[in-house]
Amino acid sequence: MPESKKNVLDVVIGYQEAVKVKEELAKTGSDFSDQKWATANTIAKLHPKRLTLEVSEVIDETESTKTFRLVSTGGPLPPFQAGQYINLFVEIDGVQTARPYAISSSPAQRDYYDLTVKRVQDGFVTHYLLDHVKQGQQFLSTSPMGTFYHNPIFHGQDLVFLAGGSGIAPAMSMLKNVFDNGLAHQFHFIYASSYIEDVIFIEELRELAQNHDNFKLTEVISRPPEGYQGITGRLNADLIKELVGEVHNKTFYVCGPTPFNENCQTQLDSLDVESRFVRIEANGPPKNPDQLNHWPDSASMEDEVTITITGKGSFKAKAGEPLLNSLERNGYSAENACRSGECSLCRVKLVSGNVFNPPEAHLRVSDKQFGWIHSCVAFPTEDIEILL
Ligand SMILES: Cc1cc2nc3c(=O)[nH]c(=O)nc-3n(C[C@H](O)[C@H](O)[C@H](O)COP(=O)(O)OP(=O)(O)OC[C@H]3O[C@@H](n4cnc5c(N)ncnc54)[C@H](O)[C@@H]3O)c2cc1C
Ligand code: FES
Repeated sequence: MPESKKNVLDVVIGYQEAVKVKEELAKTGSDFSDQKWATANTIAKLHPKRLTLEVSEVIDETESTKTFRLVSTGGPLPPFQAGQYINLFVEIDGVQTARPYAISSSPAQRDYYDLTVKRVQDGFVTHYLLDHVKQGQQFLSTSPMGTFYHNPIFHGQDLVFLAGGSGIAPAMSMLKNVFDNGLAHQFHFIYASSYIEDVIFIEELRELAQNHDNFKLTEVISRPPEGYQGITGRLNADLIKELVGEVHNKTFYVCGPTPFNENCQTQLDSLDVESRFVRIEANGPPKNPDQLNHWPDSASMEDEVTITITGKGSFKAKAGEPLLNSLERNGYSAENACRSGECSLCRVKLVSGNVFNPPEAHLRVSDKQFGWIHSCVAFPTEDIEILL
């Protein structure tokens, strides 16, 4: 060590004591300081920040849904828990953005991840994926993330999954996990769709239900064709009770469009299902934030506001568009994963002005105190300045 650095360290309070402790530990072979970062490096290898994935197959599921089978172009795919998602990065007409998609394949194999994507009316990325993506195309994504999965210690073995539309994707992975690993769970899958043509994976689900005593499938169609003999209508407390029987001590997973999730929460509340037995997956920013409590009376979704990024520039945006989306549209980027207010990765600091934070923003008290916002679910209801 150069003499000058040694002199500096010598005057640091506690340095000499630390050297002595290190010498003592070395004598007994318990000095592991050389292995500093070893754990972090191993984790980073198993769970890299970015994956490069290639589309090996595009599978048509229904008129509005395709499954994209993705393989890794380097190294093995990281392990995941059934129910987790990856955030898929895309570039569309020069705009760099991303959307999270649940992995619908089984965690018991890691040759590929399947993403099952349903077209969203007035959507952006779903139109691109369903209309333009072909075999051989490559994408960057995050590693698998999220907390919407079965934890055998807390969630028991009696599971009910309420899914709407593309909410079937994480359910499929959980279901395959049960069968591929021979788990003893009871799995009741209640799948609500608007039209019978929209029901995804139906043949596979019916076959699984026929072959496994521990799997029960209930299809519910809200807009049935004439003469349809199955269960119809919207999921309500009476129907859930009738289908499930005793609701207590069962864990309910809920995944679908936001109105579906909200309705299921209300129905389960009215059945007195304790919140620790209800797990609801996030589903992006609210579509109509102006319908939510505390949206300011003075603001409308179509209001044009100015977004200034300190030291970088400014642009015009609509109050009703999530800040992260308008940033990306204008060539700026913030790290992101859940795009639903949960993971905190897209935090930016609000320097001036106000944004509307919906309940899913999950801001901490300290975020509010120091002006941090989750840009994926923040709506700029007036001119704002942010640090990025
Ligand atoms: C944890 C999680 C898991 C999910 N899993 C699935 C799944 O398995 N399957 C599935 O189908 N969906 C899933 N979703 C939903 C998915 O992430 C998307 O929200 C959904 O696919 C809709 O994407 P979209 O871009 O088509 O629509 P939106 O996200 O509604 O996109 C429309 C928005 O894009 C922006 N936009 C429009 N045009 C432009 C432009 N030119 N430039 C820049 N921005 C523009 C605007 O802000 C507009 O409001 C999941 C969501 C979450 C949170
Ligand atoms: S991307 Fe997760 S909170 Fe915004």
